[in-house]
Amino acid sequence: RDALDRAVAAFRAGNPVLVHDADDREGETDLLYPASAVTPAAMSRLRNDGGGLVFVALPDAVAERFDLPFLHEVLDHPANDHSDLEYDAHPSFSLTVNHRDGFTGITDDDRALTIRRLGEVSDDAGYGVAAFAEEFRTPGHVHLLRAAPGLLAERRGHTELGVALAREAGVAPAVAGCEMLDDETGGALSTADARAYAREHGVPFVEGATLVDVLA
Ligand code: 5RP
Ligand code: ZN
Ligand code: CA
Ligand code: ZN
Repeated sequence: RDALDRAVAAFRAGNPVLVHDADDREGETDLLYPASAVTPAAMSRLRNDGGGLVFVALPDAVAERFDLPFLHEVLDHPANDHSDLEYDAHPSFSLTVNHRDGFTGITDDDRALTIRRLGEVSDDAGYGVAAFAEEFRTPGHVHLLRAAPGLLAERRGHTELGVALAREAGVAPAVAGCEMLDDETGGALSTADARAYAREHGVPFVEGATLVDVLA
């Protein structure tokens, strides 16, 4: 509960948190920010300190409002088969997007713009698919993830853990994140090393199980 309170306080202040899903799932720790708080400096931190894939997770209802599908539900390709995925029924991937005011879409300025605006519009009930298409184009350089409709009752990935944390914090529900990788081994950063990073940088570290216990 203490760890969760610190994570909630960080999100309210626009600061990052570290969330480890579970040893019997991916076994990964993601660096997560409220999307609306992602500056170019935060974007730089996501790719340099995280090193994995930079994404923005959206609640199911928001993805629905922007007409953002689960990719696995719309792709017509024989590689679209997840029956051998060991830790979940399906990935949460939706479309990739860029903000139209960016240039290539990949720079820290461009991705921060894309991510920040996603954060802002995720909280605007009057913002629908037409406005979305006017402001963003697909494909792009920011991966959108769509949370399961039943959130933590249905799926317990970083997608749902992040969205549940944002909800608890009362901030806009879009959450940006990136997996923490180990620069030495190239593998997932160990939980011990992720905790050490958390201590060193004053970032709250919270276990997925803690979020599930309190928020599910
Ligand atoms: C996209 C991923 C990450 O693991 C991310 O944490 C979201 O996925 P999930 O909800 O499955 O944990 O694969 O970078
Ligand atoms: Zn993953
Ligand atoms: Ca690095
Ligand atoms: Zn994950």
